[in-house]
Amino acid sequence: MILQWYSLNKRDLPWRRTSDPYKIWLSEVMLQQTQVETVIPYYEKWINHYPTIKSVALENIDNLLKIWEGLGYYSRCRNFHEAIKDIFYNHKGVIPKQIEDFKSLKGVGVYISGAVMSIAFDQTHIAVDGNQSRIIARVLGVKNQTSRNLKRINNYLTKLVKEGNPSEINQALMDMGSNICKSNKVICVDCPFHFSCKAFQSGHPLSYPKKILPKTIPTKTIAAALVSHGDNIFITKRPLKGLLGGLWELPNIELVNGEIPEDLLKIKLADQFGLTIKVGHKLGMINHTFTHFKMNVLLYNCQAKDQPLSKNTEKWVSFSDLNQYAFSKANHKLFKLVELRND
Ligand code: ADE
Repeated sequence: MILQWYSLNKRDLPWRRTSDPYKIWLSEVMLQQTQVETVIPYYEKWINHYPTIKSVALENIDNLLKIWEGLGYYSRCRNFHEAIKDIFYNHKGVIPKQIEDFKSLKGVGVYISGAVMSIAFDQTHIAVDGNQSRIIARVLGVKNQTSRNLKRINNYLTKLVKEGNPSEINQALMDMGSNICKSNKVICVDCPFHFSCKAFQSGHPLSYPKKILPKTIPTKTIAAALVSHGDNIFITKRPLKGLLGGLWELPNIELVNGEIPEDLLKIKLADQFGLTIKVGHKLGMINHTFTHFKMNVLLYNCQAKDQPLSKNTEKWVSFSDLNQYAFSKANHKLFKLVELRND
C-alpha cells in the first residue's frame, strides 16, 4: 500500500535522480533541520562545484563554507568535510557499506546512517526523523513521547522496512510527512495507513502525538563594530569549533551587565586585535534567532586609526569584496543596514 502511494505521489527531487551514495549522503546532511525547498538550490550548487568525493576531500573548508553560507548549522558542513577526507584518505575513497563503519565517521549519527544505507544501498534500516515518528505515533495512537513509545515506533518501522524495499518505504514516509500527515494538517483519505490509523479513528488526528511546548529561550544583546580604514573594513574569523565555526564576522561583544556599548567595543578591539578605534554613530539594530537563544545586535560605525597587519583570522577587505567570504545570516542583516544607509 505504502509503495503504491509512493509510486503515485513521489516528489521529483534532485537527489532522487542519482544512486551515488555520496550525493544521497550530502542531501541527508543538508536536509537535517532544513526544509526541502531551502535545500534544493544549495544541493545543486554544491554538486556543480563538487561532483565527487575527491573534489570535496581536496577542497579547503573556507570554500565549502562559502557554498553552505545561509543554510545554517555549519557544523554539518565541517563534519561532512572531515568525514569525506576520512573516506578519501583512509577508505580508498569508497563509502563503507557496513552501517557501523559508516556511523563511525564524523557527524554520521543514527538518522544519517539509517537514511543513507537504506536509500543508497536499499539496506533494511530505519531513518526516524520528526516526520516518521509523527506518522507512526498517529498510526499507533501514541500521545506521549516516552521512551517506551519511541521503542514501539521504532519496532513498527523496523517491521515495515523488513517487508521489502526499505529505500522507497523510508522516502515514502518522508513524503507523507511533508504532504498528507503534517503536524498541523492531515489529508487522511489519501493516506495508505488510514484504515488502521488509531489517530484517524479517534476523529482528532492532529492531537497525536501531544505537542511539546517550545522552550522559552534567552535574548542576548550584542554590540558589533563596522570598523573602517579608508575603503577597507575589518573582519575576523570565528574559531572552527563552536557556533558558526569557521565563518567570518564583524567584531562584536555581548553586553552583559548594561555596559556602555561604545566603551566596551573600544576595549575589546584594542585588547583582542590591537585596534585603536573611534566609535561613531549607531547604524541600527538587527535581531536573529538561533535554536538556543535570540540576539539583538547593535551596529556601530567605527573608524580605525590605522590598519595593523592581520593574522590569518583577521582581514581588511573592501565592502565589494565581502562576498568572497562566508558570513552568518545575522552578519548579512548587518551588511543590509549599511547598504540601506548608503543608498
Ligand atoms: N527529508 C529528509 N530526507 C529526505 C529525503 N531524502 N527526501 C525528502 N525529504 C527528506
